[in-house]
Amino acid sequence: MSDFSDKLLNWYDANARELPWRIPPADRKRGVMPDPYRVWLSEIMLQQTTIPHGIRYFLRFTELWPDVQSLASADRDDIMREWAGLGYYARARNLYACAQAIVENGGFPSTADELIRFPGIGPYTAGAIAAIAFDQPAIAVDGNVERVFARQIALDKPVRDAKGDIREAVQAELPGQRSGDFAQALMDLGATVCTPKSPDCGACPVVQSCQAQKLGKPEAYPVKAPKMPKPERFGDVFIFNDGEFVRVERRPETGLLAGMVGLPTTDWADAAQERKDDAAKTFMGEVTHVFTHFRLTLKVYDVAEAEIETSQRVKITELHDAGLPSVFAKAAKLWASIRAG
Ligand code: ADE
Repeated sequence: MSDFSDKLLNWYDANARELPWRIPPADRKRGVMPDPYRVWLSEIMLQQTTIPHGIRYFLRFTELWPDVQSLASADRDDIMREWAGLGYYARARNLYACAQAIVENGGFPSTADELIRFPGIGPYTAGAIAAIAFDQPAIAVDGNVERVFARQIALDKPVRDAKGDIREAVQAELPGQRSGDFAQALMDLGATVCTPKSPDCGACPVVQSCQAQKLGKPEAYPVKAPKMPKPERFGDVFIFNDGEFVRVERRPETGLLAGMVGLPTTDWADAAQERKDDAAKTFMGEVTHVFTHFRLTLKVYDVAEAEIETSQRVKITELHDAGLPSVFAKAAKLWASIRAG
């Protein structure tokens, strides 16, 4: 066992966070193993959200679907609805596809090489599941781990350009045992001690080997990559309503927010379109939402209708709970607040 992993694991024994999918280190030492389903589910959720937000979704999902069989046989619409607010809806579709493939496979495989063949499981998730759920000697390099190691080796280029160097550095410290605790210890260290802006080097178990700390400016690492501005897109979104119901529509099966329930919207274009004055449509304001690859600004219009078709409507009082993706939830919220005066 390297000095690094020894110190890190001792720190973890005393400081591991309590998380609903995690087996505490003392229990792991007594041989208690985590449930691969819970490990997988938590990792997919945490790729796109913070721990407190992720925990709420995790508890809800595991209450509704306590094991991979129940998730695999759930109604897809129910999964998409419960996923709403987490973003990246392709992940929810992959989650469902993966659950079905795992059931067909007779359970989760235990190595990263096998896990990576399943839908929605990339190199990070494959490593995390193999290490955490099966104690395989695999590494799981997320943003937190990249930061810890960029500082350890005072990496002089952006992480984006040095993925291989980082993986090598992590691999070199991988202990011969307790791979799962090692992976989680690194995540906890990055999240609680080796934080982006003000690392608490006094509390760090591996400060002695930290090159960035020796140089006196740990927070200067990882070196930032030059930022490309996000492209902007614009569109209109319409709240067709009859005073009791609002019209919603299912999004196409491909493209952004595929298969989700949305609000009627124009195409999202590169330049803002001027909408001609139209007595039937009342401008209510704008909402902005930042997707991975662009920033979207939508003008929100109220449109009074005599009646909304039964198959396409949601009660106004239930709109907040209808599983709308965040961008549409923002538009609905703005509309509701202005309407309420
Ligand atoms: N972030 C992502 N996965 C995590 C895990 N298993 N434990 C703590 N933080 C995490």
